[in-house]
Amino acid sequence: MSKKILITGATDGIGLETAGMLVSMGHTLLLHGRNPEKLEKVKKTLAALPNAGGIEAYRSDLSRPADVSAFASAVMEKHRTLDVLINNAGVYGAANPVTPEGLDVRFAVNTVVPYLLAKRLLPLFGSSGRIVNLSSAAQAPVDLRALAGRVGLSDDAAYAQSKLALTMWSRRMGLALEGRGPAVIAVNPASLLGSKMVKEAFGIAGKDLRIGAEILCRAALSAEFAGVAGLYFDNDSGRFASPHPDGIDAGKCEEIVRAIEAILTEKLE
Ligand SMILES: NC(=O)c1ccc[n+]([C@@H]2O[C@H](COP(=O)([O-])OP(=O)(O)OC[C@H]3O[C@@H](n4cnc5c(N)ncnc54)[C@H](OP(=O)(O)O)[C@@H]3O)[C@@H](O)[C@H]2O)c1
Repeated sequence: MSKKILITGATDGIGLETAGMLVSMGHTLLLHGRNPEKLEKVKKTLAALPNAGGIEAYRSDLSRPADVSAFASAVMEKHRTLDVLINNAGVYGAANPVTPEGLDVRFAVNTVVPYLLAKRLLPLFGSSGRIVNLSSAAQAPVDLRALAGRVGLSDDAAYAQSKLALTMWSRRMGLALEGRGPAVIAVNPASLLGSKMVKEAFGIAGKDLRIGAEILCRAALSAEFAGVAGLYFDNDSGRFASPHPDGIDAGKCEEIVRAIEAILTEKLE
C-alpha cells in the first residue's frame, strides 16, 4: 500500500538516495530542502522516475526553530495524516557554527529541530506510523550547556553529542508513545557513507549511499520495524543494538527532553 512519507534533507546524500527509492516504490513523498533551486530540481528529477506517485516540496531552514514551526504548519494545513517522518537532515562541519538564535548549528539541526518537527506533526500519525531519526555511531555524553548554546564545542564533539541527544529524545518519545502513537526509531545508517558531509569532513570517497538508503526504507516500511518503541538500530552491525549507555538511561533521557523543551520555549517566544 502506498504510504505518505516526509523526509527532511532530501536534496543530497542519503536523503536524496532514500527519496529516490521510495518514489520508485510508488509512495507519496513530501520532500524537504533548504535551497529552493536544489529542491525544485530534485522534485522534477524524482517526478520523472518510473512509478512515481505524488511529490510535494517544502522549503525550510532547519537551523531556525521558528522557520520549522511554519514548515510544520504548512504540512498540517495540507495533510490530515502522515505515515512516516524521516528526520534525515544533518550537519557536521560549519564555518560559523552559531545560529542567529545563539544555538550550535549541530544541536539545532540534528537534535532540537527534529524533536520540534516530530512533536508538531504527532497529531497526523496513527499507531502504525513511524518516526525515523538519523543517529550515528558517533555518540558522546551531552553537555547541557553546549546544547543550550552557552559553550562552544569542536565539530567532532558537537556532532557526536547532538546525535546522542537525538537518540535520547527518540527513546523517551518512543517509550512514551508505545502502543498509542507512531514507533520512534533512531537509526545509524552505517558509518562513512559517501555523502558530501563525509567527503568534506574526512576527505574520503566513502561507501555506497544505497547502504544508508536501504536501511531507511526498511525502517520506514518493513514489518521488522513495526511497533518498535524507542529502540536504536545500528546498521554498522545490522541489528537493533545498545546506543551509548546514556541513551538508555531514563533519567538522562528525561533531562535531555526537558532541556530541549526549555530551549524551544525560549527560542519560539
Ligand atoms: N554519511 C554517513 O556516513 C552518515 C553516518 C551516520 C549518520 N549520518 C546522518 O545521515 C544524515 C544524512 O547525512 P548525509 O551523510 O547524507 O549528509 P549530506 O549529504 O550533507 O546531507 C545532509 C542533508 O541535510 C540538509 N541540511 C543540512 N543543514 C540543513 C539546514 N540548516 N536546513 C535544512 N536542511 C539542512 C542538507 O541540505 P543541502 O542539500 O541543502 O545541503 C542535505 O540535504 C545526517 O543526519 C547525518 O548526520 C550520515
